[in-house]
Amino acid sequence: MTKVIYPGSFDPVTKGHLDIIKRSSKIMEQVTVAVLENPRKIATYSIEERVKMLKMVTEPYPNVTVDYYKGLLIEYAQNNNINIVIKGLRAMSDFEFVFQMALVNQKLSPSMETLFMMTNNKYSFLSSSIVKEIACLGGDIRSLVPPEVHNIIIAKYQS
Ligand code: PNS
Repeated sequence: MTKVIYPGSFDPVTKGHLDIIKRSSKIMEQVTVAVLENPRKIATYSIEERVKMLKMVTEPYPNVTVDYYKGLLIEYAQNNNINIVIKGLRAMSDFEFVFQMALVNQKLSPSMETLFMMTNNKYSFLSSSIVKEIACLGGDIRSLVPPEVHNIIIAKYQS
């Protein structure tokens, strides 16, 4: 069985993330979307909120599960018998970090493979940070996030 992990901060999930999830679920038998702490970033949404939003938007895909883990990605993957990581790639600016991450994970766990999936062109500019910046400034993020989670995302900026 081809099991993959799609790790990320998902703070919050965007249409770009969902596009990678959908496309992965078509070519892989089992996709685990894992919310992991990124030590380089302070999160806006709690792990519980991020998992809840991901569960809502992935409900239509029976071979996609959502989970979270505080620790090393390879530790979680090994515990769950997963040895393929999927990372989305938007632009050259993403490359340095995801490339380093892939090499670190390979060093820590030589059986771990990382596959890069090119973004859908229409989401190449999109990131969780951009969504938060627009929402924070009162802009319309409807075209950037899945409709099911729009209200949860903007609620952070309405109080
Ligand atoms: O969505 P992001 O913030 O680009 O995702 C980065 C993430 C969370 C996948 C990465 O920071 C990660 O794997 N963190 C878990 C800790 C870990 O395993 N670090 C070593 C590899 S960089």
